Amino acid sequence: MTYNPPSDVMIYDTTLRDGEQTPGVTITTDEKITIAEKLDKLGVDVIELGFPAASKGEQETFREASKLGLSAQLSGLARALTKDIDKAIDSDADYIHTFIGTSPLHRDYKLKMSKQEILDKAVTAVEYIKDHGIVAEFSCEDATRTELDYLLEVYEAVQEAGVDKINVPDTVGVSIPVKMNELISNLREKINVPISVHCHNDFGLAVANTLASVEAGAQQAQCTINGLGERAGNASLEEIVMGLHKFYKINTNINTKLLVNTSETVSRITGVKMPPNKAIVGENAFAHEAGIHVQGVLANSETYEPMKPEEVGHKRRIVLGKLTGANAVKSKLDEYNIKLNDEQFDQLYSQIKALGDKGKTITDMDFRSIAEAIQGKPTEERIKLIGINVMTGDNTVPTATVKLDIDGEVSYCAKTGVGPIDAAVNAIQELVKQVVNLELVEYHIEAVTGGTTAFGEVFVITADELGNKATGRASDEDIVKSSIDAVLSSANKLLMLRN
Ligand code: KIV
Ligand code: ZN
Repeated sequence: MTYNPPSDVMIYDTTLRDGEQTPGVTITTDEKITIAEKLDKLGVDVIELGFPAASKGEQETFREASKLGLSAQLSGLARALTKDIDKAIDSDADYIHTFIGTSPLHRDYKLKMSKQEILDKAVTAVEYIKDHGIVAEFSCEDATRTELDYLLEVYEAVQEAGVDKINVPDTVGVSIPVKMNELISNLREKINVPISVHCHNDFGLAVANTLASVEAGAQQAQCTINGLGERAGNASLEEIVMGLHKFYKINTNINTKLLVNTSETVSRITGVKMPPNKAIVGENAFAHEAGIHVQGVLANSETYEPMKPEEVGHKRRIVLGKLTGANAVKSKLDEYNIKLNDEQFDQLYSQIKALGDKGKTITDMDFRSIAEAIQGKPTEERIKLIGINVMTGDNTVPTATVKLDIDGEVSYCAKTGVGPIDAAVNAIQELVKQVVNLELVEYHIEAVTGGTTAFGEVFVITADELGNKATGRASDEDIVKSSIDAVLSSANKLLMLRN
């Protein structure tokens, strides 16, 4: 393996182009602008905003984004065709990323062109972009499955034509770090312009392949927030950047403290939720449950954390469950300033273990209400259900009327919904607005026993406008009633947190 890394790596973000190719994801112009502004604040060097030839909306996005005065360069993707390049030029793109497939599969089945025809098209495209005074980046699509001598020939030809950067895509994610490193080393011998890589994650190696390429001297990483992209996605920006900073002390312009916030924005807009165990930005990336780990982290975070959560804009979480040790419980009690005597502490500790054994996770709110109940403080219920009435049927819009007592004042509200539960939750949200802006984050229902008289156990997670989350659980033979009870129980927990 060649080890000749640069001191700085440029970050080319393609969340808004390859990321938008994530199955099921489309991003409107307004949403692209929101994300582009976030990416600019984050410090990416280039934002690939889209594919101007694809639609009028894409062209509009470029025109809108060019008015924002962002520091990042705004790149548009274009096939190696003058008609695509013209669309990018007309849309005010100040950077064009042009590409053509070079592997035998692309030549024979997709393009049905000879090697020479493809090379000529690549050169013409680059010359055309440069004649318009625009920055040109060129990719041999499916580079990692292209014969090395031909790949070199194409890249040398576009270099001759004045390209500013070449990009090496591992289009179907079939490379491995040692091969990627060798490929970039070979290219470095002939290519003088900066070399970029674009690795897909079909085998889960996109980040490893990107880092191996940088080790061989690649100066730019194409990547996406949250690793979004075609099929299994692209190399994730947050993982690459932290890897570059931590393992190699390589600089990027990224303000890492904004990584979690940017990831959350992209996740909210695209609707692609991150798994809790996603590296760097996942909910559990800095969460600790096991007793031994918690004890270590509380003494010195480096024992079980390879970086500080604040460095990436995250928060450490001590999670309680069956693996929890006494130290974690003590630290949580300190955090909430709850004082328990030894007997009360033992009671709390065994209750947490018992809940954990039943497979339940104990959120901070659950912990606080159990601890305060043991301490003798009654769990304050500011919202109480007085009554419900639901109407549903074949030719009726499902409607629920909910009557609540909130801090001693009784009020009611009727709302419609896609079903009776949705209608009831809508009515609750409206009624409790005066004390909390309630958002339903998760809803699960399970029949506890069989048959039509089965108890329906409902589990919910709600959130408030401050970002606090609370769980609620209730069971009843009537699933609308158990849903309302669960939502109100979590709403009461949220209110307790705000006291
Ligand atoms: O994966 C790929 O090959 C691409 C190219 C357009 C660079 O996304
Ligand atoms: Zn791609």
